Amino acid sequence: MKTIKVGIIGAGGMAHTHASDFADLEGVVITAVCDVDQERASDFATRYGISHVYRDSARLIREADVDAVSIVTPDRSHAPITLDAVGAGLHTLCEKPLATTVADAQEMAGAAMKAGLVNMVNFSYRRSSALHAARRMIDEGRIGRLVHFEGHYLQSWLISRAWGDWRTEDRWLWRLSTERGSSGALGDIGVHLLDFVTFPAGDIEWVDCTLRTLPKADGARMRGYKLDANDSAVITASLSNGALGSLHLSRWASGHLNTIGMTLYGERGALRIDLDQSWETLWCCLGEDVEKAKWRRRTYKRGPSVIERFVRSIKRGKSEQPDFARGAYVQRLLQACFDSDLNRARVKI
Ligand SMILES: NC(=O)c1ccc[n+]([C@@H]2O[C@H](COP(=O)([O-])OP(=O)(O)OC[C@H]3O[C@@H](n4cnc5c(N)ncnc54)[C@H](O)[C@@H]3O)[C@@H](O)[C@H]2O)c1
Repeated sequence: MKTIKVGIIGAGGMAHTHASDFADLEGVVITAVCDVDQERASDFATRYGISHVYRDSARLIREADVDAVSIVTPDRSHAPITLDAVGAGLHTLCEKPLATTVADAQEMAGAAMKAGLVNMVNFSYRRSSALHAARRMIDEGRIGRLVHFEGHYLQSWLISRAWGDWRTEDRWLWRLSTERGSSGALGDIGVHLLDFVTFPAGDIEWVDCTLRTLPKADGARMRGYKLDANDSAVITASLSNGALGSLHLSRWASGHLNTIGMTLYGERGALRIDLDQSWETLWCCLGEDVEKAKWRRRTYKRGPSVIERFVRSIKRGKSEQPDFARGAYVQRLLQACFDSDLNRARVKI
């Protein structure tokens, strides 16, 4: 099997996870990196032993010796860079959210499919083997018909400084500003939660969403950034299978650095995942245990990351999930949440 040559576009925080995950895989070499911040790209190249450094993604895409690219730039640039890479015949892994509009996400999915290229979106919590076990158990009818679900994704970086200071660091400030390409907490962590919950529970029929942007600086500005992106959301949703549930996400949740979890309630039992405790543990309340509300733990083997799946897909010549089409579906859910908040109305998907 020939070595797969990868270029990484964007050399900020998350790119380090991409680089170390690719570096751990056999038959993969990172040959190029690009960042608009030349110094950051050079430091990144030195750290990971990458031979070619670019400032312009279009040049990396055209000039570098790569079979695939991993796009780890702020959200707004995902669509143009992806379309460029796909146009140049490169297999593409794109960070979440896939795009900032449904039209862009659909165009990206259509272009990659037409070109026959591997295309995946980094819904990184898909690595949880407990999540896949939950989906299998629901498909097998182990908890009966799904009636309710509850999901949450809670962070506290607008209060705590555990991850740095959002007031002074660009890597946090762009996430608070729509003009810098962010779609707020909903686009940042809500997108994970929507994928995480609907993967086992099923497609959404309608959403009713309330977004909040809390006051955090004089004139809602900080160091030239307009702080207008949403910080939190509460979503009520009904699934096509009739289940009714709620999703809560926030950057203001003290006591939670990065907590994601859910409970799925069926007519004959319930399943719970708490990634703070373990990505491989599924808590089950089934059969006789329903009488005493007793939860038992099932533990599974570690699952492959999306980056491992991406490389496996290139080797096999076929995209695994989550692909761009899935990214575009989640983008529709995101848009419905924005529309629901704006019009104070329930939005059908
Ligand atoms: N899957 C996950 O769990 C996860 C976690 C964190 C971030 N992300 C996603 O990864 C992306 C990047 O987030 P981050 O935390 O690394 O942000 P970051 O701000 O730390 O890094 C972004 C980098 O991209 C560079 N950049 C900006 N525009 C560029 C362009 N046009 N071409 C090349 N480089 C460009 C910036 O200079 C910066 O170095 C975002 O879309 C974010 O949503 C995903």
